[in-house]
Amino acid sequence: MSTLFDLTGKTAIITGSSRGIGKAVAERMAEHGANVVVSSRKQDACDAVAAEINARYPGKAIAVAANISDKAGLQHLVDETRRAFGDIHILVCNAASNPYYGPQEGIADEQFRKILDNNIVSNHWLISMVAPEMRARKDGAIVIISSIGGLRGTPVIGAYAISKAADMQLARNLAHEFGPDNVRVNCIAPGLIKTDFARALWENPETLKRSTQGAPLKRIGEPDEIAGAAVFLAAPAGSFMTGQTIVIDGGQTI
Ligand SMILES: NC(=O)c1ccc[n+]([C@@H]2O[C@H](COP(=O)([O-])OP(=O)(O)OC[C@H]3O[C@@H](n4cnc5c(N)ncnc54)[C@H](OP(=O)(O)O)[C@@H]3O)[C@@H](O)[C@H]2O)c1
Repeated sequence: MSTLFDLTGKTAIITGSSRGIGKAVAERMAEHGANVVVSSRKQDACDAVAAEINARYPGKAIAVAANISDKAGLQHLVDETRRAFGDIHILVCNAASNPYYGPQEGIADEQFRKILDNNIVSNHWLISMVAPEMRARKDGAIVIISSIGGLRGTPVIGAYAISKAADMQLARNLAHEFGPDNVRVNCIAPGLIKTDFARALWENPETLKRSTQGAPLKRIGEPDEIAGAAVFLAAPAGSFMTGQTIVIDGGQTI
């Protein structure tokens, strides 16, 4: 395998990896040689994904459930990763929530706070738990899954879009903080991808049309079409890239 994309000897935590984009990232990182930690709120679902990965790449995956809204749960995820694999080299903050669809005016405080807590504060927590060892070792890559929602105004998913714009700013800030220690922090901003998370959008012919008709590729994406960028950002191929956001949206935002 080309060393440009080789992750052999690296260990990656991927939140929200029992399905969708996170699962595709875990599978592709294992394929490129990394040990991967599959995580979501449901241990059973994570066990099943880890078993699938281990069937193809023996010994490469473990499953540790953690709710991103629970700081102690995230610390447990980090502790169990170290117990199983030792050092942590790659963190993919992928899990996120969007409990509200409608005008910003109508959002309840609780819903707004949940979105900011789960999509931004939890990323800050988890990054704070792994960054010290990455900085001490002078080797680490952090990838945050943002969204093209964070690049544009929206009348219906405003709080979510605010949190996804904040992901991009978090990456820029931390790139400054961690860069001197060779720890890189980047975002990926997907367009509409065929997952459970976005089902309401791609199952509705109106919103599906809005996402695809102006886009050069005229279709929505598959989870696996995001995974390669995560491998790139974590691998030697991405070694000069930090603080940036890679947009992968079939050209929708151009
Ligand atoms: N799909 C799109 O069109 C799209 C577009 C742009 C950006 N994104 C972003 O991509 C990321 C992944 O979304 P996806 O579309 O792949 O979603 P998905 O297929 O629904 O998967 C979400 C994953 O996150 C886990 N999860 C949900 N809530 C969690 C919590 N509180 N704590 C821990 N894990 C949790 C889920 O498992 P459990 O239910 O078992 O916890 C699952 O593994 C998100 O950050 C999303 O904002 C998605």
